[in-house]
Amino acid sequence: MGEQLLSRRQFTARCAAFGLSLPALSPALAAAQTLGGTTAPTPAARTVRLPDGTAVPALGQGCWHLGQGRHPPEVEEEALRTGFSLGLTLLDTSGNYGGGRSERLLSHVLAGQRERIFLVSKVERDEIGGDGIARACAASLARLGTDYLDLYLLHWDVPSDQFPPLVAAFEQLRRERRIRAWGVSNFNVRQMQDLLRVPDAHRCATNQVPYSLNNRRIERELLPWCREHHIPVMAYSPLGGDNRLVIADPTLAQLGAAHGCAAAAVALAWVIRSGSVIAIPEAGSPAHVRENAAALSLQLTAADLQTLDRAFPA
Ligand SMILES: NC(=O)c1ccc[n+]([C@@H]2O[C@H](COP(=O)([O-])OP(=O)(O)OC[C@H]3O[C@@H](n4cnc5c(N)ncnc54)[C@H](OP(=O)(O)O)[C@@H]3O)[C@@H](O)[C@H]2O)c1
Repeated sequence: MGEQLLSRRQFTARCAAFGLSLPALSPALAAAQTLGGTTAPTPAARTVRLPDGTAVPALGQGCWHLGQGRHPPEVEEEALRTGFSLGLTLLDTSGNYGGGRSERLLSHVLAGQRERIFLVSKVERDEIGGDGIARACAASLARLGTDYLDLYLLHWDVPSDQFPPLVAAFEQLRRERRIRAWGVSNFNVRQMQDLLRVPDAHRCATNQVPYSLNNRRIERELLPWCREHHIPVMAYSPLGGDNRLVIADPTLAQLGAAHGCAAAAVALAWVIRSGSVIAIPEAGSPAHVRENAAALSLQLTAADLQTLDRAFPA
């Protein structure tokens, strides 16, 4: 085998990919996941550790619009495979994205790759009554062509008195090995507090919420609370989402030019700067995926962070 040195970017991508097959980082590397964003992150800091010790890439691929004609399906599949090769091996979908079409498209790229991928899907709040979670999970698994999910999320909040049966149903799926972990989405601090009072709720692996340079709302309460309780946040719409994309901003373009990367990579490197946030940008083309993946090896300086704070005040 050749002894050639890897570039930092190659090393980062390989660390992220290996992070999925190695259950946990060494304590030394984990310690490198310094919070705050001003400390130089090591390549291994671009994974995020879930409460059960599993390391996942800090950057994944959102799949909301896939399989629904926004781009030709073969382009979307190629985009996802490009992401895999660059370490973006976490996929975020939902049973309700395009009425199941997102999951069906993913089944094509998962074939032969399943063990490399950290697969996230979601159940809707109107599906959780009775044995609804088990049925929704079975339907997602069938569409995805797999027999387990790495992470299953409740898509939107429900009243707190529904938390005990919710957790029990997730735990049952976990015991049956149909899911490896579970979590929630769009929960505020009060809902997280109520959730953690339920037996076994300490296994909640993440809260998926919106977070981007132009939507920093969670910094006030939710982000510090999750950090304190060692629950990673999964940031959706990390580029601002379709209608409020941040990438046209001149400050981002300037920083991108200085670092030799696209504005999108700067925006994503900012979202994942702490080591406790996973970003799941959606990209419908290999070119966009390549630009985004550069965030895994982009180290923003303290001066960059100050510039971004001025351009996008908290
Ligand atoms: N839990 C929830 O309630 C929830 C809600 C919303 C979203 N999500 C998840 O989060 C994922 C991402 O969120 P999102 O789709 O709302 O927002 P986003 O990732 O912030 O933005 C997606 C948009 O960015 C564009 N884009 C991606 N990379 C780009 C690049 N390098 N340069 C220029 N444009 C680029 C995409 O266009 P192209 O398609 O042309 O690449 C698309 O229009 C979703 O796919 C979904 O998995 C979850």
